[in-house]
Amino acid sequence: MTEQVVATNEVSCGVEPAARRPRRVAASKPAAGRGRREAAAPKTAAERFGVLPRPSLDYTPEVAAATAHLYERVAHVIPAIEWPFHAPYVKAINDLKKVRDAVILAHNYMTPEIYHCVADFVGDSLQLARLAEKTSAKVIVQGGVHFMAETSKVLSPEKTVLIPDGKAGCSLAASITAEDVRLLRRRYPGVPVVAYVNTSAEVKAEVDVTCTSSNAIEVVESFGVDRVICLPDQYLARWVAANSKVKIITWKGSCEVHERFTGEELEAYRAADPNVRIIAHPECPPDVIAASDFAGSTAKMIDFVKTVPVGGRVVLVTECSMADNVAAEAPGVEFVRPCNLCPHMKRITLPKILDALLEMKEEVVVDPEVAARARRAVERMIHLKN
Ligand code: 13P
Ligand code: SF4
Repeated sequence: MTEQVVATNEVSCGVEPAARRPRRVAASKPAAGRGRREAAAPKTAAERFGVLPRPSLDYTPEVAAATAHLYERVAHVIPAIEWPFHAPYVKAINDLKKVRDAVILAHNYMTPEIYHCVADFVGDSLQLARLAEKTSAKVIVQGGVHFMAETSKVLSPEKTVLIPDGKAGCSLAASITAEDVRLLRRRYPGVPVVAYVNTSAEVKAEVDVTCTSSNAIEVVESFGVDRVICLPDQYLARWVAANSKVKIITWKGSCEVHERFTGEELEAYRAADPNVRIIAHPECPPDVIAASDFAGSTAKMIDFVKTVPVGGRVVLVTECSMADNVAAEAPGVEFVRPCNLCPHMKRITLPKILDALLEMKEEVVVDPEVAARARRAVERMIHLKN
C-alpha cells in the first residue's frame, strides 16, 4: 500500500516511490495459450485480416508529389533533407488506412510526422477516448501508449485496436494494481474511487469513475462528498486538492517525465523575461505548478497557447513533441522548451505504424469481463454532465 492523504495542500504518509514498483505493460498477445486449448483459440487480427505485402519505400517523384502538402505542415520542425526518409512511410500508411478501414488516433505527444501527416484525429486523453467511442472505422491504430489503446478497446470492444509497440507503457499505469485498489477500498470503505485514465483496464474495472487531467476536478466534485480517493498520480491529486474543497486520498504514483521539472528552473525563465507565459501539465510537482501561469491537460495547454498574442513567448512544461506540434498552429509565438521526452510515447514511430497496418499487430486484448467493468467507469467520465 502506498497511498497518501492529501487534505487541501497538506500531504501525509508517503511510502514506496512508484519508480521502484515493477512496470506493468500489459501483454498485447491474443488470449490464446492462457489455459485455453489451441483449437478454441480465437483468430489473431493477422489471421482475420490477412498480412499485406510491404510496399516500396523509395522516395519517388510520385511520393514527393503525394506528400508535398503534408510536408508544409511540418517544414518548421523537419529539415527538407530528412523528408525523403519520412515521406514514403507517410504515403504508404495513408494508403493502407483506406485498405484496412483504419483510423489513427494520435496523442498530442506523438512526433510531428505522425501528428501532422498520418493521424486522423489528435488530442489529449479525454478527446481520444471520445473519438474511440465514436469512430465507425473497423480498426483503430493508437498513436500513444498502452493504457490509451486499452481505453479504446474498452470503449469499442467490437473494433480491432492495434498499438504499434506493445511496450509503450507509462510510469503512472505501472504504479498501481487492481489488488492495490481493492486494498484501498477496504481501508476507506464507502469513499468513492476515481482513477486517472493512465491506469490499466484491470485498475479501471475496480473504480467508480475515471478522469483525465482535463476533467479531474469536475469528476472528483461530481460525487458531492467531502472525501474522494483519486489515484494513482500524487501530483495530479495535489493539484485537484488545491483547486477544490474535497479532501483527496491519493497514491504515490508519478509521471517519470513531468516529475523531473523543478520550480527553480521555471523561476529562471521568469527572471530572464518577466512577460513570458509559463504553462504546465498537472502531472508536474506542486512547485512547478506554483511557478506557472496556467496548468491544464495537453489540449487545454494548446488552447491557452492560442490566446497568446503574436510576439509572445511561452514556456511549455511538458513532453517535447507538444511544442513541435503546437508551433504550426500558433505562428508568431516563440516557444521555450524545457522539455523532457517520454520514452514510451517515443516508441511509436512511422515504421512501426506501417508494420502494424501491414501485419495487423500488436492487437490489444482485454478480458471481456474486465472490459465491461472498466467501460462503466470510463463511460461515466465521458458522459459526465458538468
Ligand atoms: P493528457 O490527458 O493531458 O493528454 O495527458 C496524458 C498524459 O499521459 C500526459 O503525460
Ligand atoms: Fe505516462 Fe508520463 Fe509518458 Fe504521459 S508522459 S505517458 S504520464 S510516462
